[in-house]
Amino acid sequence: MQTDTALGAIGGTPMVRLQGFEPEGGAEIWIKMEGGNPTGSMKDRMAVSVLTRAMERGDLTQGDRVVEYTGGSTGTALAFVSAVLGLRFTAVFSDAFSRSKQQAMDAFGAEVLVEPSDSTITPELIQRMKSRAYALAAEPGSFYADQFGSPDVRAGYIPMGQEIAARLGRVDMLVSAVGTGAALMGTADGLAKAGQTPDVIALEPAQSPLLTTGKGGPHKVEGIGVGFEPPFLDRTRLTDIRTVDQDAAFAMCRRLAAEAGVFGGGSTGLNVVAAIDLARELGPGKRVVTISCDTGAKYLGGHIYG
Ligand SMILES: Cc1ncc(COP(=O)(O)O)c(C=O)c1O
Repeated sequence: MQTDTALGAIGGTPMVRLQGFEPEGGAEIWIKMEGGNPTGSMKDRMAVSVLTRAMERGDLTQGDRVVEYTGGSTGTALAFVSAVLGLRFTAVFSDAFSRSKQQAMDAFGAEVLVEPSDSTITPELIQRMKSRAYALAAEPGSFYADQFGSPDVRAGYIPMGQEIAARLGRVDMLVSAVGTGAALMGTADGLAKAGQTPDVIALEPAQSPLLTTGKGGPHKVEGIGVGFEPPFLDRTRLTDIRTVDQDAAFAMCRRLAAEAGVFGGGSTGLNVVAAIDLARELGPGKRVVTISCDTGAKYLGGHIYG
């Protein structure tokens, strides 16, 4: 990792104990504060992993164009890392996603191609974005970041697990909501490298219980519950999969900010709702770890904080 550039600001995020949220007679609850990364999201870890490893292999060189289709934080993270590494970045985006995400990519000098929509995120729209990204990535001097396929995505979260183990020592349970599944599995990989093999619990919104029932649905928790089997999820490594109601998650976001100063997005609230239940089940003397995936600042003016 280059420490004399802005990439040095990725990772090394603090951990907070949510003592006021721990059930009586239950386990400790700790949360990794990933909103502290440069773009306010844990996605910086995967972006730096994908792009630096591709450059090391010679698959990508300065001046090349990185391409990805994205509606969220991944695009901002790739735009940020590309800016630092002297790469160009083209995002295939849509006006169905929030304008602030487009502005953040613009700020990092990205080219943002906007697929028109009727403001709703549909499988047809995603397919259109994907086809456009594939076509661009096939042009000379272009590199497809492949957020749903590259093994470097999961590997990008290994340091997160190692940081958790270095801070806490023993970890009994790791709990997190899944989008691609990379953050949960990569963090578990990092913990294993540090000698910790906790129970691993994946979460999804109750409104889209694809993993637990096989049938997804519309929901409002950004970044998770993608509507298909998460490509990096290794079910053989999971102890359990739980669903959490999205409204309970959003209420928890507001409580976390007001009572603990932990200011996160919807997936953070969802993670803590589950962590509290699991801490109760696990009992005293144990330790549950979860993730605050991104900063709540990204969600101001939306349905979580108003
Ligand atoms: C806010 C937020 N939380 C959680 C996740 C899930 O992470 P992963 O895709 O690594 O499972 C994402 C991913 O997009 C996200 O943006």
